[in-house]
Amino acid sequence: MTTETSEITETSETTETGRIPERLTADLSTADLSTADLHEALEAPALSSMNLLNEIAGHYPQAVQFAAGRPGEEFFDLEDVHAYLRAFTDHLARDRGMSPAEVRRTLYQYGRTKGIVHELVARNLAVDEGIEADPESVVVTVGCQEAMYLVLRALRTGPEDVLLAVAPTYVGLTGAARLVDMPVLPVSGGADGVDFDDLVAVARRARRDGLRPRACYVMPDFANPSGLSLTHAMRRRLLDVAREEGLLLLEDNPYGLFHGGEERTPTLKALDEHRTVVYLGSFAKTALPGARVGYVVADQRVADAAGRIGLLADQLSKIKSMLTVNTSPIAQAVVGGKLIAHGCSLVAANVREHQAYSRNLRQVLDGLAARFPAGAPGSAGVEWNAPTGGFFVVMTLPFPVDDALLEHSAREYGVLWTPMRHFYDGPGGENQLRLAVSTVAPEQIDLGLDRLKALITEWSK
Ligand SMILES: Cc1ncc(COP(=O)(O)O)c(C=O)c1O
Repeated sequence: MTTETSEITETSETTETGRIPERLTADLSTADLSTADLHEALEAPALSSMNLLNEIAGHYPQAVQFAAGRPGEEFFDLEDVHAYLRAFTDHLARDRGMSPAEVRRTLYQYGRTKGIVHELVARNLAVDEGIEADPESVVVTVGCQEAMYLVLRALRTGPEDVLLAVAPTYVGLTGAARLVDMPVLPVSGGADGVDFDDLVAVARRARRDGLRPRACYVMPDFANPSGLSLTHAMRRRLLDVAREEGLLLLEDNPYGLFHGGEERTPTLKALDEHRTVVYLGSFAKTALPGARVGYVVADQRVADAAGRIGLLADQLSKIKSMLTVNTSPIAQAVVGGKLIAHGCSLVAANVREHQAYSRNLRQVLDGLAARFPAGAPGSAGVEWNAPTGGFFVVMTLPFPVDDALLEHSAREYGVLWTPMRHFYDGPGGENQLRLAVSTVAPEQIDLGLDRLKALITEWSK
């Protein structure tokens, strides 16, 4: 960096109280570095998608919000954070027999790399998911995002290692894979969630090409963005195919609790008898994303160079120790307190949220059916899927859908959604958009769908 020119110019005085200046303006007329000199992932669309979409949404705060796949905010309550912290510290003292000094140290100090709420996470998995996880196989992470990174970092040993991912796929996964230089080979999701023939064909073709497929990333419950879920039979088959093909399955399950009232289908991890599944967990949709707490269950046995056998979780913990050291104990305490306050059941903790998301989903699906009746001239080429739960609905339209159209939609019609092409790391989703039902107020849904219909009518002409 040059020092003589002021690339960053202060435009406000430092105050007498020594506060940081309010506004800093960067002079961006000359470059010091090129992205060609930085990691190549920085030019990958996956790494810009979220910021770009947030930026568009940020320009139109009044628009009806079908874009963000965030939890709704109507039940956020600041008092809960205090209550959860208290519930957790009481738990440490009462159930774990800690002295006041030990409780203080647990919250204030650097902590156990694998986390301090691992036992509560394991109990939650038993209560809500029927997953029997050894707490030692749990690594508590900075969001599910860090869990993805740790697993991919560990699996990527060289340029031959590749990841399979059911497409369309969550952009955070694609971005994490890019950051560890691991190519992602898309597997067709088809109409049912996974195309098994394609899965086998992609894995075998990769092997023929000298590559080593290590794992397949999959969201069996109300996937982001497709909204699709796998049937029980498909889950069993996926476990069999993965074993036959020598693949781990990376199961990501942030939306499974928000089902449509039908009996829940077991997770892959609950069905896993051979430690084929690495389970990725997020508290972003079931507790609070602001805590940035997630986890991974990695019970796979790993032999080290000396022949000692341990858990994959312990290898991930080594990576974590060099990445984030440990997940904030205070953030873990908030999530842990929420678990304790609800008997370790996130199902119990999310009764109101579950009802709100289900109500919104029903209203969106009914609203689409009312506005685009089969056979009507205005419905030609307009289709959508009908997930029974989760946050997302995918629409297919008779024209290309891209960021420019999103901007037009927000500016001229006041409605936000997400172009599906962001969820393909290559061709795909060109005529599709994703509607998220989680943050829109129920009284805005019909207005938003009217606006969407007006946009579609204009663009279909
Ligand atoms: C499929 C999927 N995985 C993971 C995450 C992110 O989880 P976290 O906020 O815990 O990092 C999301 C968030 O939208 C998601 O949709």
